[in-house]
Amino acid sequence: MLNLILFGPPGAGKGTQSDKIKEHFDLVHLSTGDIFRYNIKNNTELGQTAKGYMDKGELVPDAVTIKMLESEVDKHRDGNGFIFDGFPRTVAQAEALDKFLATKQTEISKMVALEVEDEELKQRLLERGKTSGRPDDQDKNIIKNRIAEYNRKTAPLKTYYKNQNKFTAVDGMGTIDEITERLITAIDQ
Ligand code: AP5
Ligand code: MG
Repeated sequence: MLNLILFGPPGAGKGTQSDKIKEHFDLVHLSTGDIFRYNIKNNTELGQTAKGYMDKGELVPDAVTIKMLESEVDKHRDGNGFIFDGFPRTVAQAEALDKFLATKQTEISKMVALEVEDEELKQRLLERGKTSGRPDDQDKNIIKNRIAEYNRKTAPLKTYYKNQNKFTAVDGMGTIDEITERLITAIDQ
């Protein structure tokens, strides 16, 4: 199996690039943000829990997120592998994912991190906020808080995967196609 983590701050292009990469490598794309939004739209109990955190730009608690992710992985067990987008976002989530994949006789192959300057992130998210209807894209302070949460809780995961020799950084500035090419090269190595 090829199990990739597509990593990066809010607006780095994880979702955009996952769509391309999943076709190229024939993988299942799991975006925890998309799954939460689907649950919010359908007004499930999980959606109601997640919404309070997401609208403020805070992380949803680990226990809720890990349980959801594991059940999504179990739904797609016979594929070639996964692209995890937006998960793990804390060390506790990374540890849980390692343990869980080990029970399936598989593991993370690589973390590929998209590197994008902060100003560009804010621009992309505010631009999308004009049409996306995502409450967390509408307000400069919420965007700031998402980036702060990333720096505080999520960025340390780079070290976690570096220590396992699984970390690769890719320049996330440029056109979508240029970045896809860079990602494919990094994943193939
Ligand atoms: P999530 O949905 O994961 O949002 P995010 O990480 O904040 O990032 P985005 O999805 O907004 O950005 P992206 O990197 O996917 O970029 P995209 O391709 O969309 O999470 C939302 C919330 O859910 C979290 O804040 C948290 O509350 C909760 N959550 C999710 N996972 C969780 C977890 N594991 N634990 C706890 N809580 C969790 O691109 C962004 C924009 O830029 C788009 O408009 C796109 O068209 C544009 N764009 C993309 N590439 C380029 C380019 N090269 N040039 C110009 N524009 C570009
Ligand atoms: Mg996304």
